[in-house]
Amino acid sequence: MSFNWNRKLLKYHAASALRPDANTALLQGLAKAALDTRAGRANDRHNVPVFLQYAVGVNFALNLDRLETVLELGSGYSSLLWGTLAPEGTRIFSVDGKPVDAYDIREPLLAVAHRVRFVTGPTLTREQYRAFYDSRTRTEFLGLPVAALRAHLGPFVRPQGRSFYAATLGLPEEPGALARAVDGQLFRGDGLRCLSTLLPERWKADEEFCAAQGPTALDGVLAEADSFDAVFYDCGEFSTLPEWTLTSQRIRPGGLAILHDVHFPKSVKSFLLCAMLAASPEWDVLYHDTTTPQGLCIARRR
Ligand SMILES: C[S@@+](CC[C@H](N)C(=O)[O-])C[C@H]1O[C@@H](n2cnc3c(N)ncnc32)[C@H](O)[C@@H]1O
Repeated sequence: MSFNWNRKLLKYHAASALRPDANTALLQGLAKAALDTRAGRANDRHNVPVFLQYAVGVNFALNLDRLETVLELGSGYSSLLWGTLAPEGTRIFSVDGKPVDAYDIREPLLAVAHRVRFVTGPTLTREQYRAFYDSRTRTEFLGLPVAALRAHLGPFVRPQGRSFYAATLGLPEEPGALARAVDGQLFRGDGLRCLSTLLPERWKADEEFCAAQGPTALDGVLAEADSFDAVFYDCGEFSTLPEWTLTSQRIRPGGLAILHDVHFPKSVKSFLLCAMLAASPEWDVLYHDTTTPQGLCIARRR
């Protein structure tokens, strides 16, 4: 079953590069398998490459020597892949503030609920969120000197047409000018500015996703699972960095951090994390996928 699925996805991956209607064919295939029940799905070409990108992430995890426990932060299509492809017996936790019943793909999600433990609730408290985004400009970030992170930021800063953050920060599109403008806005001397000071309104809006007090849904998972073979980071735009500080030490040596939305200014979710991983002696970046504006990055813990 898993093998057939992977072969199918690979086939569509290749076909979509050559045949403009390959995405439609994949969506029809998903609908037939009851994995995609959206109305008008055959027209939604944008999401298929992202779905395939998730499949690439899951596939890396399937190739680990051991896949006993997986944590997904941000449920949705990716949960369908974990639930369908992971070997029997793998414990899969998927945390999201949105209940499964509220998804337009509720039915396929419920169909994998015997394989994926959907944990509904916030990943963070407001206190944790504010403690991470404390407005300070830092010369150390996520355990590394900011200078090291800055030197590895290049691949994760990519022009993506008009995006909310590009418009808000007035960023240019030409790659060289974009890199200079981003450098100028993010850094002050040797220090990295806090994202909450750069994007205060958006940061404040995302605080709404946080719990007034703990324990959070993520606390519950962390109490139950000591270590993870793979963690898939695809939660909130501003929640991902603090979630990293709570979970990354639980990824076992040889285990994977799989990150989605890794390109700035399309997203602020993971680009700083990816630059840190590229600079870190504790991690090897195995893969950086640039086939969608969102991008995907996979790193293995040494
Ligand atoms: C990009 S979507 C996840 C996409 C999903 N991986 C998929 O395959 O469709 C991000 C999700 O994070 C959730 N989210 C954002 N901030 C959160 C927080 N602080 N706690 C829990 N969930 C949060 C949102 O409800 C949203 O469903």
